[in-house]
Amino acid sequence: MTKTTEQARVADIPEWCDDLCIGHAQVDADHQALFELVATLRSSIIGEEGFDTTRHTIHRLSDYVRAHFRREERLMQEQGYPHLAHHRTEHLRFTDEVRAVEIVFEKTPERIDAAKLLDYLTTWLVSHILGSDREIGLFLQDRNAVEGDAATSNRLVDIEVSVPAAYGEVLERCARMLRRGGPYAEAVVEAVGPAAPMSYENALHTARFFLVSQAEDAPSPPPST
Ligand SMILES: [Fe+2]
Ligand SMILES: [Fe+2]
Repeated sequence: MTKTTEQARVADIPEWCDDLCIGHAQVDADHQALFELVATLRSSIIGEEGFDTTRHTIHRLSDYVRAHFRREERLMQEQGYPHLAHHRTEHLRFTDEVRAVEIVFEKTPERIDAAKLLDYLTTWLVSHILGSDREIGLFLQDRNAVEGDAATSNRLVDIEVSVPAAYGEVLERCARMLRRGGPYAEAVVEAVGPAAPMSYENALHTARFFLVSQAEDAPSPPPST
């Protein structure tokens, strides 16, 4: 990412608007904050700030993406949303991609193509919000229409899974902490969340679509979800 080249290539990005709301206050506020972070990232790239500002913004974006996805997935789980597993897969992939960009930028910022990155971030966010996230909003509307405002946050689900015997006790302790909720559950979610360690080599592979092209036949960015 070299400043003068990127400043000329970075295009305008869409701004937040009410058409992107899904009808859930916390989720909508999170989405708006994500848009603002991407706009801040764009400003840091085309402005006079140094790489440290861009690095810091990518780090904040990566953190916020993970925090938002945790909140959204908790909401889906609490409300018994039937497509949680597929939705989580989309989140995991995007989380990995942003995390990979963060790792590559930390070590070799010149390898990140800012124009490709900003285009992908905004395209993914708009597509995901208007598609998968809006489905959550519609589900919640239907559910509230049927059940009113009855609290369902303490609903429990039974999950059957086989693990090696040596881990059985650990798994049971984790399940008890999740059932207790609060900071105990948060600690478990944080420990097993998508922010697992990633090597620089793996990050380069995952972020390959956002790297400065090394050859004529460089791959195209992945399709948005
Ligand atoms: Fe989502
Ligand atoms: Fe979302």
